[in-house]
Amino acid sequence: MSHYTIDPAVSDALAGFSLPDKLGFGVVLAPVMYSVEWADGRWGQGSLLPYGPIQIAPGARALHYGEFIFEGMKAYRAGTPWPNLFRPLDNCRRLALSAERMAMPAVPEALFLEAVDAVAGAMAPFVPTGSGRSLYLRPFLFGTEPGYMLRNSQTFRFMVIANPVESYASGPMKVAIERRDVRAAVGGIGVAKAAANYAASLRASNAALARGYAVALWLDAAEHRYIQELSGMNVFAVIGGALHTPELDGAILPGITRDSVIALARHRGYQVHERPMAIDQLLAQIGSGECSEVFACGTAAIVAPIGALGDADGRDHVPAKVDVVAAELREALLAIQERRAPDPFGWTRDVAPPPADAPWARPAA
Ligand code: COI
Repeated sequence: MSHYTIDPAVSDALAGFSLPDKLGFGVVLAPVMYSVEWADGRWGQGSLLPYGPIQIAPGARALHYGEFIFEGMKAYRAGTPWPNLFRPLDNCRRLALSAERMAMPAVPEALFLEAVDAVAGAMAPFVPTGSGRSLYLRPFLFGTEPGYMLRNSQTFRFMVIANPVESYASGPMKVAIERRDVRAAVGGIGVAKAAANYAASLRASNAALARGYAVALWLDAAEHRYIQELSGMNVFAVIGGALHTPELDGAILPGITRDSVIALARHRGYQVHERPMAIDQLLAQIGSGECSEVFACGTAAIVAPIGALGDADGRDHVPAKVDVVAAELREALLAIQERRAPDPFGWTRDVAPPPADAPWARPAA
């Protein structure tokens, strides 16, 4: 696999970019992107390009049959010359698992790292500093071959775009328990970070937003009884002082932040239980005070407090505490990600310096 090429227009794109004070989440676009194509059973040479529209055949299977998977990951700038990434190989492995489920080609580790390093390295001066701020990277893989025959594409494209961001969630979220729609079933594609799972969640997200809630809480497909996850986040409850989270049942996305929260919490002395969690039992435990706190986590959301769980009958279930254990774990996680604390898990990894001929080969101060 050869080194990526750099489009000459990338320098101007970077020179014309400045970081606004207010970032939001996914609103500010990095001016560069990485792209590489797969054809004839192998990956070609990647390119770093100015961010901009791409050409896609209107008949491409990604558009018609949802042949599209993605990742979410973050780069931080913490006084080091180049940014650092949080658990990038885990994102690469999860993309490979998603690709396996969707019968798409895996992106080899070296190519995945080349792509995220290229974008994060070029964006080094614009990786926002300040706790909770970062460069969000969105690697994605999609089928580009046109055709209606129900089989996979023979051609694919892997890209990385990025956004300087703040946290996805601001303040305690009200979540709406979704009792009608189903997001993912065991044996389906919930375990893959497939765009189609997010599409399945949108009607409930719209309804939740219209009712003044931030996000939908999903229940299992078979019985509509057991908690799965929130749209785009995993969920934890503090019950009797221990952490409880739905077990990975074959329909829930195996969140990398979920895994980090479990490891960090155990490291800090909490008991953590991964088990089937019935929604009605959790609501009763919130009512009795046995469940003191509920929170969400994800790459975008970091660790986000939940202020209330709203049911379909209009009732809000309000945990006694908001953002106590969540705040402790968020700070512990951010301190590692932002390199303010030792990283006993070996989770952070420096971005590789760009090729020597890249105009931005000199690191940010
Ligand atoms: C992420 O946390 O990376 C996601 O993909 C969730 C999305 C709703 C922003």
